[in-house]
This record gives sequence, structure tokens and C-alpha cells, in this order.
Amino acid sequence: MTTAYETVSEYDDGPARDGRIKLHNEEGFQGMRKAGHLAASVLDMLASEVAPGVTTDHLDRLTREFVFDHGATPATLYYRGYRHSLCTSLNHVVCHGIPGPKPLRNGDIVNIDVTVVVDGWHGDTSRMFVAGEPKRKAELLIDTTYDAMMAGINAIKPGVTLGTIGAIIQEHAETRRCSIVREFCGHGLGRLFHDSPNVLHFGTRGEGPELKPGMFFTVEPMLNLGRPDVKILADGWTAVTRDKSLSAQFEHSVGVTEDGVEIFTQSPKGLDKPPYSLQA
Ligand code: MF3
Ligand code: CO
Ligand code: CO
Repeated sequence: MTTAYETVSEYDDGPARDGRIKLHNEEGFQGMRKAGHLAASVLDMLASEVAPGVTTDHLDRLTREFVFDHGATPATLYYRGYRHSLCTSLNHVVCHGIPGPKPLRNGDIVNIDVTVVVDGWHGDTSRMFVAGEPKRKAELLIDTTYDAMMAGINAIKPGVTLGTIGAIIQEHAETRRCSIVREFCGHGLGRLFHDSPNVLHFGTRGEGPELKPGMFFTVEPMLNLGRPDVKILADGWTAVTRDKSLSAQFEHSVGVTEDGVEIFTQSPKGLDKPPYSLQA
């Protein structure tokens, strides 16, 4: 992270990840609105599908078809050897859970994370879903995680630093007896899936790069009910809590505007967090 805090226009020298933070123009905002809208629409579509007995393989198939039917591509398909259109992270899985043939059970909580590419722009978002009836402590973890993400996002505006955003998220989690996972962070995105800057979900106020209009990145905190420590399973992807405690995550893709923040991945149906009322 040598020159991590320099900025550069996307349109000067193309999309290579070089440690500098791109500043996008109106064309970028328009591209991200479309990509974010489709990514959020995938999660809206899945909200009525998650139930006991359903397999995460089925959710993956539905997502792949939905995304291709909309003229877009799942960014995770064949990304670094990954072969699926979403990640499904159940219970003590922190992130990057791989869809499979095992049916969901009553009370399971699952993060579904989808990234789509629309006209070259990336929309990356995730939400928690519950199969059947959640346990009270799972519900509390989910609420705290969503509120921590939104507390961070709502503080985004030019002049604020990423350290401040991280600190706000961390304080929200830790004052509610949840821990923040350190090994995974949010990221710049746009025409690249994972770009600078790294967006840590912990930190110190006033430290880190200063936000400027035109920066695009994700905010995607992972909170655990137990200790923050994680390990990666032998499949090379699945990250789990070492103490097997429950973990939750939400993710939005956002852009810094002249006076605040625009969320590109807001739910078109108002299904941003559970419980999802599905009569729409
Ligand atoms: N969508 C994830 C993120 O938020 C990345 C998933 S990469 C995969 O950055 F290969 F695991 F799918
Ligand atoms: Co992301
Ligand atoms: Co994601």
C-alpha cells in the first residue's frame, strides 16, 4: 500500500489496479446505478426463494439465469477459479461460502452475496436471509450488522477519512457485544471488481485516505457473535469463525457525491434487511 492514497481519474490511464483511488465522473455514476440496481434486484428475487428445504445450488442456478436474462454477467463466475454466480455463507460461515446440494434448515441464517457486471460496471451487494424462523440471538446479530453498515455509509461525505468510517462501524459493533472480522474488507470497484482502496471495517478516526467526490467502493462489514478470528476451509474459499460462533454480513456499493453518498445497491422493492415482507 505504498501509494494507496493518491487519486487518479479512471479515464486517464484505464482500469489497472495500481494502488491509486480512481475518481469517477457522471458516466461512471450512471454505469454504477444500472449495475447496482441489477445486483439488488437479484437479492430481491431471491428473498421469496430462501426457505427450509431449498438448496443453495438452486439459488445459484436462479441467479445465473436471472443475470444472463438481463444481459449481464455474474462477476464471480470463473473469477480466480470460482465457479458460481453467488456466495452463500451459512451460520458460522463468515464469507465466500460455496453453493451446494445441502438443503437449508429451519433457523439457518445465510448471507447471499452477488456481483454483476453490466456494460463493464460492477454492482456488488449482499444481505442476510433467514430460512424459516430465526433464533433471537441470530436476529440481534443481523440487526446489529445491518445497522453497523448503515452507520458507516451514512457518515460518508467528502473530507471524511476511511479510518473514521471504519471506526464508526467498529464502535457500533463492539458496543453491542459483536466482534469485527479483520481479514476481509470492502474495496474500490467500478470497471474493476476489486480495486483500491481497501475499506477496513475498523480503524481510527481521522486516519486513512480522505474521501473525495467520485470515489466508488463497497462497505461490507462481517460481524461475529463470538471472537473475531476466522480460518479458511480446505476448499480454499469458505471462511468460518474459529470458535464456530454465528457470523453475519451486509454489503452495499456506494459512490461519494459532492455533499454525501449515493447507494447504488439499494433494494428496488424495499427489501434491504429482514424480516422481508414479500406481498409486493
Ligand atoms: N462479492 C465478494 C465481495 O464482496 C467477492 C466474492 S469473490 C468469490 O467482494 F470468488 F468468492 F465469489
Ligand atoms: Co465486495
Ligand atoms: Co460482495
